[in-house]
Amino acid sequence: MKAQQMSLHAPPPDTALTRRRYDRIAPIYDLVEWGMEWRFVPWRRALWALVRPGHVLEVGVGTGKNLPYHPPDAEMTAIDLSPRMLERARRRARRLGSAARIELADVQALPFPDASFDTAAATFVFCSVPDPVLGLRELRRVLRPGGRLLLLEHVLSERPWLRRLMWRLDPLPYHLWGAHLNRETVHSVSAAGFVDVVAVELSLDIVKRIEAQAPGGHEETAGRGRV
Ligand SMILES: C[S@@+](CC[C@H](N)C(=O)[O-])C[C@H]1O[C@@H](n2cnc3c(N)ncnc32)[C@H](O)[C@@H]1O
Repeated sequence: MKAQQMSLHAPPPDTALTRRRYDRIAPIYDLVEWGMEWRFVPWRRALWALVRPGHVLEVGVGTGKNLPYHPPDAEMTAIDLSPRMLERARRRARRLGSAARIELADVQALPFPDASFDTAAATFVFCSVPDPVLGLRELRRVLRPGGRLLLLEHVLSERPWLRRLMWRLDPLPYHLWGAHLNRETVHSVSAAGFVDVVAVELSLDIVKRIEAQAPGGHEETAGRGRV
């Protein structure tokens, strides 16, 4: 635990860079996304509707856009890498009367014991996590066996022309706020050892809701459109 907390004070260079970029964009983040948020809201609602009561970890809470959809009967912990994004999330939590614990933490080195959560959820986060497989392995560790992972993510398209375009455009959002366009998060979820990985396409083959389970539970179901 001590080593994990220390690693937050001196994160590896790419993680420090991601933090600086989100700190920099935090004051205008909601404004930048304002024109797209109407599209995201139904996807956010649908994701959070799948969360069952229990101890739930939200990763990359950002400015707190998911706070209104947190299930009222869940015990919520929300983390983010960027102190400036967290300031906004805490402000929104106070406004909404949310009881979520909101903490500074890196998903790649979580300060929580093994098997301490029933569900982990994140929206548009693994495009920015410097080592997504490492972050997802950490989520697998802190989830109880059979615990659920629920993600909303934009990923690299399979269509060759779009794929090429996304690769070309990738440096732009990365330099502006630290997000990549070329992440293959569905594969990363499997690579991190999750089972029963299901990806629901929401917009083209780019925006996906990814549902998976930490191995070892009794809830694993056979063959539901596995990846
Ligand atoms: C694109 S924003 C999404 C914010 C929010 N989830 C939403 O849907 O509006 C990505 C967030 O992930 C956070 N993030 C990036 N890398 C992280 C890491 N390693 N650990 C925790 N949070 C991270 C960023 O600081 C940022 O707040």
